[in-house]
Amino acid sequence: MKTRARIIGTGSYVPEKILTNADLEKFVDTSDEWIRTRTGICQRHIAAEDEQTSDLASKAAQAALDMAGVTAEEIDLLIVGTITGDCPWPATACLVQEKIGAKNAWAYDISAACSGFVYSLDAATRQIEAGAIQKALVIGAEILTRFIDWTDRNTCVLFGDAAGAVVLEAQETESGVLSTHLHSDGSYYELLYQPGFGSVHPPSEEGLKNRVPYLSMQGNEVFKVAVRSLYNVAVECLEANNMSVADLDLFIPHQANIRILDAAAKRLGLSEEQTYINVERLGNTSAATIPVALDEANRAGRIKEGDLLMFDAFGGGFTWGAALVRW
Ligand SMILES: CC(C)(COP(=O)(O)OP(=O)(O)OC[C@H]1O[C@@H](n2cnc3c(N)ncnc32)[C@H](O)[C@@H]1OP(=O)(O)O)[C@@H](O)C(=O)NCCC(=O)NCCS
Repeated sequence: MKTRARIIGTGSYVPEKILTNADLEKFVDTSDEWIRTRTGICQRHIAAEDEQTSDLASKAAQAALDMAGVTAEEIDLLIVGTITGDCPWPATACLVQEKIGAKNAWAYDISAACSGFVYSLDAATRQIEAGAIQKALVIGAEILTRFIDWTDRNTCVLFGDAAGAVVLEAQETESGVLSTHLHSDGSYYELLYQPGFGSVHPPSEEGLKNRVPYLSMQGNEVFKVAVRSLYNVAVECLEANNMSVADLDLFIPHQANIRILDAAAKRLGLSEEQTYINVERLGNTSAATIPVALDEANRAGRIKEGDLLMFDAFGGGFTWGAALVRW
């Protein structure tokens, strides 16, 4: 029997404040009808002014620890997938460590945009399979609404804030994370990125005027590559495990746009029952979409022991990746 990373707890946190499409119509040149038909999004949650990404992440983490019956002191490794950390450095994972009391863990962030959770799950799984650690906390957490340009209707209608987490434990088992498949292609980086403030555009009044610290995206270019990549890596993941779409009990894709999800699900031949979608209620919360959806499905009783799950993500970089999990 192989040592595998088993998911023994899930948790999520979604800020209280809701911004509906009708609210957006009041200050953006858009319409509920356009947003619904082009993205499937009806509302998004917005973090409160006194909430930081480490707060959202800590609440999701504590919920996952409580479900797993594990204390923060038992955690050996803590990884946060995020592109909207509390500050450029140190890692938001270190702030989460402090806030939940995971004093025996080492902690770091992974920046892989919307693929951040799948990349982080891979990193922790490999530490467990190598026998380096027993328990890990893997979190996807974002406050993207503080980095979008509310005057840019092409982007501001798409994103929301949230955090999701899983507790992983080393077990001798046929269940757990069966495989992970990660890819990236930097030639596309300018199609979906935040130009500043970094070493290319260090903090400056000029930069602020030129909107560099805000998310920039070529929407329909991203759309095409996203559908193709989500499909390709899902097929790669199934083939690597001699599995087919029919074997999947639940497909949990990155929640970016209902048309992207429908196109990928249709190409894969997935049924509605097999596919988990919550983009209409939360919008695109980047690295948080998959762990939040997983926690919702888990707490709703949609996942039972032995079920086969796939996580499938695509995001800025471009990065993309999939993971196959036996529950
Ligand atoms: C952003 C996205 C919803 C735009 O939908 P689209 O069908 O590609 O629309 P286009 O960008 O071609 O714009 C079509 C028209 O709608 C307009 N438009 C754009 N945003 C609008 C808005 N919020 N409200 C009303 N009209 C809008 C455009 O100005 C354009 O008008 P024009 O035809 O007069 O030039 C879609 O491209 C998308 O979802 N891309 C992927 C985004 C994503 O989620 N990325 C994250 C990583 S996966």
